[in-house]
Amino acid sequence: MKKQTGSMDTLVSLAKRRGFIFPGSEIYGGLANSWDYGPLGSRMRMNLKKLWWKRFVESRDDMVGLDGAILMNPRVWEASGHVATFSDPMVEDVVTHKRYRADHIIEEKTGVNTSGMTLHEMSQIISDKKILSPDGNPLSEPRQFNLMFETTMGTVAGEGNRVYLRPETAQAMFVDFKSVATTSRKRLPFGIAQIGKAFRNEITPGNFIFRTLEFEQMEIEYFLEERDWETLFDTWHREMYAFAREVGISAELLHDFEVPDTERAHYSKRTVDIMFDFPFGQKELWGIAYRGDFDLRQHQEHSGQSLEYTDPEDNKRKILPHVVEPTFGVDRTILAILVSAYEEQVVGEGDTRVVLHLKPEIAPYQVAVLPLMKKDGLAEEAREIHRALLKHFRSDYDETGSVGKRYRRHDEIGTPYCITFDYDSKNDRCVTVRDRDTMVQERVNIEELSAYLDRKMNQHS
Ligand code: GAP
Repeated sequence: MKKQTGSMDTLVSLAKRRGFIFPGSEIYGGLANSWDYGPLGSRMRMNLKKLWWKRFVESRDDMVGLDGAILMNPRVWEASGHVATFSDPMVEDVVTHKRYRADHIIEEKTGVNTSGMTLHEMSQIISDKKILSPDGNPLSEPRQFNLMFETTMGTVAGEGNRVYLRPETAQAMFVDFKSVATTSRKRLPFGIAQIGKAFRNEITPGNFIFRTLEFEQMEIEYFLEERDWETLFDTWHREMYAFAREVGISAELLHDFEVPDTERAHYSKRTVDIMFDFPFGQKELWGIAYRGDFDLRQHQEHSGQSLEYTDPEDNKRKILPHVVEPTFGVDRTILAILVSAYEEQVVGEGDTRVVLHLKPEIAPYQVAVLPLMKKDGLAEEAREIHRALLKHFRSDYDETGSVGKRYRRHDEIGTPYCITFDYDSKNDRCVTVRDRDTMVQERVNIEELSAYLDRKMNQHS
């Protein structure tokens, strides 16, 4: 029986206890909203990115990859509109100087929908409804706060050397469009994909890895002819749901949100947010936007360089392609996978086990090899099996504690199969394979172990 008890506290504590995710800089008292992915989390994150890259780049002939720089010429962000408009409305507690999202605080305190409201209208509501900060103090006038992180390039500080940490990976794919199109000789429609860090000076970060200042995105800019955008928007939208299935995100926890005109980013003509039922509410997991030719046009105007694509059919017709952009946050995906996978099962009187039902492709380890005892040569033989498995699988070797405890540990970190080498194994050359989800155990000949595991994992997916 499935109990949906993956509260945030339980997940955060499991993540820390088992080495998935730790608070960043912890020995120095931490740094608010920064997180480090530990031995298991970094494996899981890498598995996720590899699956995404394989599905969207390597398995398709209409996609190519890019690995752009995080620091870009600041004119990129003027052209893209981020300097002028990438901001959220902010209010400040006049006593503590803590800052809050004005729209969030109004919605929380009054239930009023702030969508499309001007700063003046928000200010009016704050004074009419006498809204105070969470610490009970008056709030400042709302003002727009730009979310881009600024830093200084070179040894001399000053206006001229200001650069931004990119707030989205997307822009390199627009700025490099011409070079990519020329060198890859792709024909429209085709896409560029990129995985990389992005940074936003969020006013109210929080909810573990959901909203942080530094995070990672997996983005696609799919370039197309304007007439095809609706069809390709739908195709990519379906692709995103297929990827959610592939990585084990529960379909029943996903919902579409058609973002209204007043809430869409400045570049978008249509956006659908793919929302997920997180333990703290339904929130954006991923998004898909039709950016039209906004970005290429802006960069063309600001740089003075043509970004047009010549139709290879007649070698004459010039096209400024339009774009559909499916975007995925790595960290939110990890959180959605953990929420979807988490289960507490009652397995006996007063006994529960915690299981992460991770897909074998995502799980940090696919198998764990456990000698029944460390003594009598069992450990040596088990270790040998582990070494052989490492050539094909992500295997862990675990000899500490009782076998029961080791099974529980691997249930909790999502290892799909545990392999036990016992006294009988020495004679019959068979091991016990225990299935994480069903707890069913089977004896399998060591010679056939790899083929057996392959078959099981294929059935699993
Ligand atoms: N290029 C389009 C773009 O950046 P976005 O909706 O602002 O669109 C894309 O961001 C995705 O990045 C989101 O759907 C989310 O998964 C992730 N994301 C955005 N801000 C984030 C933050 N502060 N912390 C963690 N993930 C974030």
